[in-house]
Amino acid sequence: MDSVKWFIRVLLIFFLPHFSISADTITPDHFIQDNNDEVIVSSGNIFALGFFSPGSSRNRYVGIWYYQIPVKTVVWVANRDNPINDTSGILRIDGRGNLALFQGNQTLPVWSTNISIAGAGNSFAQILDSGNLVLLQNDTGKEVLWQSFAYPTNTRLSYMKIGYNFRTGLNQSYTSWKSPDDPGVGNFSFRMNPGVSPQMVLYKGSVPVWRSGTWTGKMWSGIPEIAQNFLFNDSFVNTDDELSFSSDTINASLMTRYVTNETGVSQRILWNNASQSWIISYTTPIELCDIYGHCGRNGYCNPYLGDFECTCFPGFEPKSP
Ligand SMILES: *[C@@H]1O[C@H](CO)[C@@H](O)[C@H](O)[C@H]1NC(C)=O
Ligand SMILES: *[C@@H]1O[C@H](CO)[C@@H](O)[C@H](O)[C@H]1NC(C)=O
Ligand SMILES: *[C@@H]1O[C@H](CO)[C@@H](O)[C@H](O)[C@H]1NC(C)=O
Ligand SMILES: *[C@@H]1O[C@H](CO)[C@@H](O)[C@H](O)[C@H]1NC(C)=O
Ligand SMILES: *[C@@H]1O[C@H](CO)[C@@H](O)[C@H](O)[C@H]1NC(C)=O
Ligand SMILES: *[C@@H]1O[C@H](CO)[C@@H](O)[C@H](O)[C@H]1NC(C)=O
Ligand SMILES: *[C@@H]1O[C@H](CO)[C@@H](O)[C@H](O)[C@H]1NC(C)=O
Ligand SMILES: *[C@@H]1O[C@H](CO)[C@@H](O)[C@H](O)[C@H]1NC(C)=O
Ligand SMILES: *[C@@H]1O[C@H](CO)[C@@H](O)[C@H](O)[C@H]1NC(C)=O
Ligand SMILES: *[C@@H]1O[C@H](CO)[C@@H](O)[C@H](O)[C@H]1NC(C)=O
Repeated sequence: MDSVKWFIRVLLIFFLPHFSISADTITPDHFIQDNNDEVIVSSGNIFALGFFSPGSSRNRYVGIWYYQIPVKTVVWVANRDNPINDTSGILRIDGRGNLALFQGNQTLPVWSTNISIAGAGNSFAQILDSGNLVLLQNDTGKEVLWQSFAYPTNTRLSYMKIGYNFRTGLNQSYTSWKSPDDPGVGNFSFRMNPGVSPQMVLYKGSVPVWRSGTWTGKMWSGIPEIAQNFLFNDSFVNTDDELSFSSDTINASLMTRYVTNETGVSQRILWNNASQSWIISYTTPIELCDIYGHCGRNGYCNPYLGDFECTCFPGFEPKSP
């Protein structure tokens, strides 16, 4: 009897963790618990989904991070404004077929995909190698019911869009964390401004601080840094149904992310495998003149003027010397 118990315990020790880690899905029968350090990992071991605490915080969040990168780099957060204050969190498929996060035994979720699903009980969630968390209908069509790529936080990965789908009403914008310790919605947002000449704009609250310039057909006029690139496939769509931009790696082994940082900048960051560190490939606004309206309505900005970069347009006098 004792040896049977011992044998079962050994089996559990060796096989249970492997089992829970190797899965890339959360199904009605398989949920993940913070208490047990459970995660799901995409099939190619690129991204993981699980519970984490940012920076020096002890609050618990559900997020997606790079599985193999030693510096924990979170690219998406589910309950960004609703942290759990202990490790009782459970992420599971609820009775309506949604993916939902619960604190312990509470009946109301802390976070949920919150859509209405026909034939509940038949859906499951899967983390993909792109970093997209999808909720799928478990039938022959495997219809995508919900996806995290449609609800960005502060990070744009390849194949994620910025902009609008006018048919579905989707509005994809990127908002900074509050601080490295708090992934809650911060003050900086990066979004597409619709209109005659759509542009990407970085806002602080409701005040624009940087604009991309307009799309020239190949690039954004205000971002010459990305004019000549052979690493990314940039696509701009401007139709009655959709206004969007995405910039996708051509070689999937290049890990890249665009972050709207809480310090008020937007950055493209690449993983350097040789140095095992993140490299900032470009930052906007890069200099004072990139800051929208920096010189006022009737001034123009020249970073090469010397001590003070603002000059008035002809016919205007400076407000103050
Ligand atoms: C999908 O449904 C089939 C048939 O009921 C089941 O065997 C399978 O485990 C389900 N897959 C997931 C991921 O839920
Ligand atoms: C943790 O959160 C629960 C539910 O929101 C609340 O009832 C409890 O008082 C909190 N505990 C602490 C220590 O803040
Ligand atoms: C959940 O409920 C079970 C059974 O009522 C109880 O034993 C357990 O302590 C509860 N867990 C939490 C985190 O409240
Ligand atoms: C789900 O959506 C409903 C209606 O929009 C809203 O009232 C509710 O608070 C949402 N629940 C969660 C957990 O997000
Ligand atoms: C998109 O969302 C942002 C942030 O919530 C909002 O300020 C903006 O007005 C929205 N744009 C449109 C066209 O709905
Ligand atoms: C956001 O801006 C407001 C007003 O400037 C400020 O009071 C607040 O501290 C800022 N929040 C963060 C997280 O920086
Ligand atoms: C670039 O993106 C467009 C639109 O998504 C796609 O049709 C095209 O095949 C892509 N090109 C490459 C080289 O990946
Ligand atoms: C993609 O990048 C990897 C690593 O740099 C390289 O070994 C591989 O040849 C590249 N693949 C293509 C199709 O360029
Ligand atoms: C934001 O910028 C700061 C300072 O450069 C850096 O330490 C931090 O990691 C950045 N945050 C993100 C989410 O990239
Ligand atoms: C990344 O670096 C590690 C260790 O330096 C090496 O084993 C691995 O092959 C490298 N991967 C790629 C895609 O170059």
